Amino acid sequence: MTSSRKARLVILISGRGSNMQAFIEACKTGQIDADIALVLSNSPDAAGLATAAAAGIATTSIDHRRYESRKDFDAALVSTLQKYQPDLVILAGFMRILTPVFITPFAGKLLNIHPSLLPKYPGLNTHRRALEAGDREAGVTVHYVTQELDGGPPIIQARVPIEQGDSPETLATRVIVQEHIIYPIAAKWQLQGRLQLDEQGATLDGKRIPATGIDYVQGIE
Ligand code: GAR
Repeated sequence: MTSSRKARLVILISGRGSNMQAFIEACKTGQIDADIALVLSNSPDAAGLATAAAAGIATTSIDHRRYESRKDFDAALVSTLQKYQPDLVILAGFMRILTPVFITPFAGKLLNIHPSLLPKYPGLNTHRRALEAGDREAGVTVHYVTQELDGGPPIIQARVPIEQGDSPETLATRVIVQEHIIYPIAAKWQLQGRLQLDEQGATLDGKRIPATGIDYVQGIE
């Protein structure tokens, strides 16, 4: 990134886009010193596309159903994203499994948010699985994306106590609040050059981040 231009984010969504909206807000308030260059969805009907367009952000969709293989779809993503020269690519509820065709060109500047305390519950239905396991807490993790599904080095995690009578839906409404807080924090660290991805995992300000990420506490920034 050169100092002569503002950092550029590209955000990938598949649905509602509430995390994307948290980024729109964070850029507007100056919490993140960046512009959102593009919001892209694999689903042309994603509600978040309209939200982004209403905020004056460029949007596009690349429908995965029109591609024969994951690799072909990923190659189309790469060629679109490269036109925008992103400094950081944000997966925000992007519900596609990515191949190295996409991951490799953006390695080290590709973040994802996953609604569990990774390494617990990679994949789908995370809140239901936490409830069925009798866990006392659930949560959310922001992590670097590597080849392993939901397995890249965690950066930051927020914990949410499970309450008596919780359903996957009630739990999700409390977890999403934390998602909107921790994702912009991780992105800000990355854009400030404070985060690094290496062979052993991730570091913040040169210090090794624990295997489950930094525990979010209020006031951390
Ligand atoms: C969020 O809860 C995000 O953590 C989850 O999808 C939701 C998207 O909501 N992501 C995954 O499950 C990725 N494996 P949003 O569209 O309102 O941001």
